[in-house]
Amino acid sequence: MQRTSTVAATRQALDHARAEGGTVGLVPTMGYLHPGHASLIERAAAECDVTAVTIFVNPLQFAPGEDLDAYPRDLAGDAALAEGCGADLLFVPPIEEMYAEPTLTTVDVAELAAHLEGITRPTHLRGVATAVAKLFNIAGPCRAYFGEKDFQQLAVVRRMALDLSFPVEVVGCPTVREPDGLALSSRNAYLSPAERAAAPVLHWALVVGAAAVAAGERHPAAVRGLVGDLIAAEPLADLDYAEVVDAATLASVEPLAGELRILAAARFGRARLIDNVAVLAH
Ligand code: PAJ
Repeated sequence: MQRTSTVAATRQALDHARAEGGTVGLVPTMGYLHPGHASLIERAAAECDVTAVTIFVNPLQFAPGEDLDAYPRDLAGDAALAEGCGADLLFVPPIEEMYAEPTLTTVDVAELAAHLEGITRPTHLRGVATAVAKLFNIAGPCRAYFGEKDFQQLAVVRRMALDLSFPVEVVGCPTVREPDGLALSSRNAYLSPAERAAAPVLHWALVVGAAAVAAGERHPAAVRGLVGDLIAAEPLADLDYAEVVDAATLASVEPLAGELRILAAARFGRARLIDNVAVLAH
């Protein structure tokens, strides 16, 4: 596996791969890789000739007071995991390589980024879209793999690629979970044993919400209430939001109809966790 830290070297390696007739797969990450990331890298490696993994803890997507400095890091472990999953290139840029100071140009995906995560974290998805736009420009034509775990992020990235004509096919990949339902996340490292034991409520509340819709519930407020109340009933959980939206547009739907996504966010101690599930209202 080749390792690069500059934009120029990364571009050169991926341009070379394409010049040889190869296809490129891109897996952007912030590191501290777990089996959720591994599933994206393995899929990219299976579907593309050359797979590039990027590790960059992107300061632009953290607000002041969030966990930028505490964000867990393990570059040696990450390199071994990426290589074991079939990555051909690992791009780990230093901050100066990614952002000129001050950063003047940013990417906003308007109302798609304004609700759900956008209410508590108003600048977060702008930071994500800006970093991903840069990675797309550095990587060039490719397939880029993102997890459904961050469902709004996936929607924002997909829409940005469409709106800005990036030569990138965005591929969404299913959420990898612990056996008790908790979605894998680098932030699970922050959980105390008691918080870790409580955290699966986030997933199970979403599953109960999906079952209610599948059983005929068509009032979004009832689904929001059901999911939110289940999470709020857990003493170690501090509910941020529970929502049900159209899976393609992330817009509200009333009465509930078509392909939907139920999403929730809650804090467990220092860890702010998010999750979502799909459900179809016939
Ligand atoms: P990070 O949280 O490291 O996640 C990198 C990718 O792994 C994202 O596409 C995320 O959705 C996916 N992922 C995380 N946990 C997953 C799980 N349990 N199952 C499946 N996929 C999972 O998301 C980011 O980094 C950043 O915002 C980034 C896109 C790199 C931009 O900075």
